[in-house]
Amino acid sequence: MAVSPTLNQAMSCDLSYCREDWQRGYNSLYEEFDYWIDQIEGIIPPELEGTLFRNGPSLLDVKGQPIHHPVDVVGLVSAIAFTDGKAHFRNRYVRTAGYEAEQQAGKIVYRGVFGTQKPGGWLANAFDLRIKNIANTNVIYWGGKLLALWEAAEPYQLDPHTLETIRLDDLGGILQPSPAFSAHPWVDPACVVDGSPRLVNFAIKPGLSTTITRYELDEAGKLVDRSCHDVPGFAFIHDFAITPHYCVFFQNPVRFNPLPYLLGWRSAAECIQFQPDQKTRIVVIPRFGKGSAQMIELQAGFVFHHANAFEQSDSLVVDSVCYADLPSVQPDADFRQTDFSQLAPGQLWRTEINLKTETAQRRLLEARCCEFPTRHPARVGQPYRYLYLAAAHAPTGNGPHQAIIKVDVESNDRQIWSAATKGYVGEPVFIPRQQSLLEGAEDDGWVVTLVFDASHDRSDVVILDARNLNQGPIARLHLKHHIPYGLHGSFTSQCFLP
Ligand code: CO
Repeated sequence: MAVSPTLNQAMSCDLSYCREDWQRGYNSLYEEFDYWIDQIEGIIPPELEGTLFRNGPSLLDVKGQPIHHPVDVVGLVSAIAFTDGKAHFRNRYVRTAGYEAEQQAGKIVYRGVFGTQKPGGWLANAFDLRIKNIANTNVIYWGGKLLALWEAAEPYQLDPHTLETIRLDDLGGILQPSPAFSAHPWVDPACVVDGSPRLVNFAIKPGLSTTITRYELDEAGKLVDRSCHDVPGFAFIHDFAITPHYCVFFQNPVRFNPLPYLLGWRSAAECIQFQPDQKTRIVVIPRFGKGSAQMIELQAGFVFHHANAFEQSDSLVVDSVCYADLPSVQPDADFRQTDFSQLAPGQLWRTEINLKTETAQRRLLEARCCEFPTRHPARVGQPYRYLYLAAAHAPTGNGPHQAIIKVDVESNDRQIWSAATKGYVGEPVFIPRQQSLLEGAEDDGWVVTLVFDASHDRSDVVILDARNLNQGPIARLHLKHHIPYGLHGSFTSQCFLP
């Protein structure tokens, strides 16, 4: 039976959320701000010192012309600087070449990977394979540089104090001639080679077969290790996991038919189809030496994000958010009309990969719909206990992220704070109280996230005590405006003020 939009709306308002509320979190933010936050409920912990950087889509239209999918939208970077119990907010668009061109032209000039087409139908789009670097997925501070990341091209370097765009950055030439640099680098807190932190990242060169390049950068941002590995078939890999000795990639079972894309009928993402009857291929790449990749099969599933990984005798343990199915991106569908009940939820799975027998098996850790996992930075690549994730309010089914959950992977305990019915949360970031991790203090710190508050159409910065999520926010900082739902970000203990 076809359900009328009105009836559907009424039904969805019986849930923990109202789709019309959720949709407004995707309205464009046209302004750039710079101010001390003065509307605060609760108390900002005075020991909380540093800067939280966030990135995500900004302008969901170009001069009124809608962008088809938020993932096609140029990045908006926000910075919340904490010092002495106060907090300062600012935000800036990343002035990429594509952003400047479209703002000057007053119209969409580039096709988007996720379905945005130029005006003029398929003839105007055919064989236009130019890619607009949108720098919208993540933002990190590393090697003295603030970098806005997007997986298919070079990072954009920003001024960490003002967020002004400085330039496209090929990282001192290491990204020439193949410019990709994924949006999901990890910081290995203590590399086994010399005990110092390293940024580990990868790049994908897609094609009939795929090349994965591994990069390792020291604290100064200099390249200290790199290797290239060929993997059969097309690969859609957004994130990976690291341990002290390995990088682990899940090659999702998808099929890519480029013809409709080349002909301008479809966007690239609309040509990708999940293949539930095929296996996921796990690719394990050694971090040191010249060893080749090991490839191990696992039952089908689609993974965007990994939570953590660690080594355990002959095995690797990898925790990931996995979807049983991934619907194809439909050319005529509007993401604002998402029917959550029709989509498979992301769930937290633990995969054990035996490197000797080259077998893998997995088990469910958390059935609640969840995404954007985060953990203590000193536990990256190490056995660990606590994960924090954005999650649906309801324990079963699918829904927008309205809650933050803490999963104790040792005891299986859970804590939850929900912002339902009017709140919609973003990626949580765990900030430790102290730089060094003391025994029994893995959850001594704060979980900070942005929450879209549909009752005021503005966003809040919410600070939770990581030891006691259930008690609710210890501080809620009201911004003067909303920030469209974002993707990823990171925290640095340096406090950057203009
Ligand atoms: Co991501």
